[in-house]
Amino acid sequence: MRIVLLGPPGSGKGTIAKIVEELYRVPAITTGDMLRDAAARGTPLGRTAKSYMDRGELVPDDLVISLIKERLSMPDSTNGFVLDGYPRSIRQAEALEEILRSTGNRLDCVLAVELDDDVIVSRLSARRSCPKCGAVYNLINKPPKRQDICDVCGSVLVQREDDRAEVIRRRLEVYREKTRLLVDWYTARGAVKTIRGDLPLGELPAVIRRTLGA
Ligand code: AP5
Repeated sequence: MRIVLLGPPGSGKGTIAKIVEELYRVPAITTGDMLRDAAARGTPLGRTAKSYMDRGELVPDDLVISLIKERLSMPDSTNGFVLDGYPRSIRQAEALEEILRSTGNRLDCVLAVELDDDVIVSRLSARRSCPKCGAVYNLINKPPKRQDICDVCGSVLVQREDDRAEVIRRRLEVYREKTRLLVDWYTARGAVKTIRGDLPLGELPAVIRRTLGA
């Protein structure tokens, strides 16, 4: 199973990626998490990436393409993966085609998540994440059992730097300018299926299974 998840910020890509990972036993590869991890470690890539992410801009294609090439060459992704947050530009999509072609593989499905902007803004303002294990919560519909504490590992939850209102607005603009084009790009290649981003969380596994049809 080789899947790409497309969709605006906060539409639920990360949530869906985790479910696909469990259902199909393929790694969820989230470029945003990889870049945030590099930023937290203070690597040269991380420092550069942070300067773009904090403003809601895309990290330059060359950097992200190298990162994904390296990640997809790891043994755990040889039998499949779910890409969350990559590609985000036509150039990144072409690079992915090239990587897949070189290994004799192709994408099985591009899942496009659809959600209105007003829901996105209220959701992202209520999102809290665990900086240690990456678990994601929502103060409105998926709160942690103890306030501000991760259910999984007990760390103190944080709000992402780019979940501030003005940065959310910029991320939505960047999605419309650069990433939404990919829905048409992949539709022309016949690989797109859509899924609503506002389904009740408990229904998601069954809907994903039905949509992917495997
Ligand atoms: P990234 O981390 O990928 O952020 P994003 O695409 O903006 O998406 P989010 O992680 O904000 O949201 P999501 O769609 O995963 O939603 P989630 O499941 O968390 O990228 C961040 C930055 O990194 C970019 O701006 C860019 O700078 C850089 N970057 C990353 N990849 C790049 C690339 N390829 N090229 C260049 N730059 C790149 O859900 C959101 C909230 O809603 C959560 O609280 C969740 O609990 C809740 N929720 C989810 N689903 C539901 C539901 N069905 N019902 C109710 N609540 C729900």
